[in-house]
Amino acid sequence: MVSFTALTLGLSAISAALAVPAEAPVQKRGDMNFVLGPDHPLALAKRNYTLARRSNTNYVQNYKTGGTVNFSSGTNSFTINWSNPQDFVCGVGWNPGSNLPITHSGSFSVSSGVASLGVYGWTTNPLIEYYVMDWNVGISPGTLKGSFTSDGATYNIYTNTRTNEPSILGTSTFQQYISVRTSGTASGTVTVQNHFSKWASMGLNLGTMNFQVISVESWQGSGSASQSVSNTGGGNTNPPTTTKAGTTPTTTPSNGGGTTGCSAMWGQCGGIGWTGPKCCSAGTCKSSNAYYSQCL
Ligand SMILES: *[C@@H]1O[C@H](CO)[C@@H](O)[C@H](O)[C@H]1NC(C)=O
Ligand SMILES: *[C@@H]1O[C@H](CO)[C@@H](O)[C@H](O)[C@H]1NC(C)=O
Ligand SMILES: *[C@@H]1O[C@H](CO)[C@@H](O)[C@H](O)[C@H]1NC(C)=O
Repeated sequence: MVSFTALTLGLSAISAALAVPAEAPVQKRGDMNFVLGPDHPLALAKRNYTLARRSNTNYVQNYKTGGTVNFSSGTNSFTINWSNPQDFVCGVGWNPGSNLPITHSGSFSVSSGVASLGVYGWTTNPLIEYYVMDWNVGISPGTLKGSFTSDGATYNIYTNTRTNEPSILGTSTFQQYISVRTSGTASGTVTVQNHFSKWASMGLNLGTMNFQVISVESWQGSGSASQSVSNTGGGNTNPPTTTKAGTTPTTTPSNGGGTTGCSAMWGQCGGIGWTGPKCCSAGTCKSSNAYYSQCL
């Protein structure tokens, strides 16, 4: 399922040199993870890991509930057409998602009814369904919370509460965070971090990254789309989230017998998706970015 690119092999080489399994998330490196200074090679390698994660899509979202939906996915691309469908969300992307910029390009044509095209993903703890709709035709997204500029366009931000609706954890009640580009485009780069940061500034916090795709959603009418998808483009990057969906975060070892439950010096103490300690038993918790705060 996962395509191992030359970049990934490059990471393997780095990881092997550091005696770390190539695909192991950083938090599984054990105690070493919590005694890293900012200049420690492993901390630097973690930043390189972010860059190396720019790779082919490794996840296909193929959610259909009825009607005619012809969806065909490839690596980094998909085509779809629909006619009188029930709700569907189909596309390609990554699992787990990240804050890397995502570029998509191609066509999006809605002949009738409603449909959206854009970034779509989920987090857990809290359970959030999020969208950055680059093109919204006729969908009422919820309650308008504000707007901002990103990637040369204005996005309106909405929230919506879904009560007893389908989710990645089964039928649940959860929030949706939805950015909608006011001038629709079928091709563009979404600087995902801009949306995550803006949402966070409004108190709309995400949790642990689950899948993240460029997708098309609709539940009525007809239309078609063909999209190429990548996160190998330009844009600023940040360290990846330090927890992955379905894994239990490593807890911070106590420092010298302390049982405060706080992170030791150099340990992580906060950031979107972080479910570990949010205090420091040594040093002060300082934010590096929305995803990573460290005891320094
Ligand atoms: C990170 O990548 C840079 C640029 O490729 C390289 O010079 C450096 O040695 C790498 N550091 C680690 C710790 O892998
Ligand atoms: C709809 O998709 C199917 C399957 O991908 C394809 O064979 C068909 O030509 C498409 N129809 C239109 C009108 O694009
Ligand atoms: C979807 O595929 C079916 C079977 O190939 C075809 O009959 C139908 O016309 C396609 N739908 C659209 C909207 O092109």
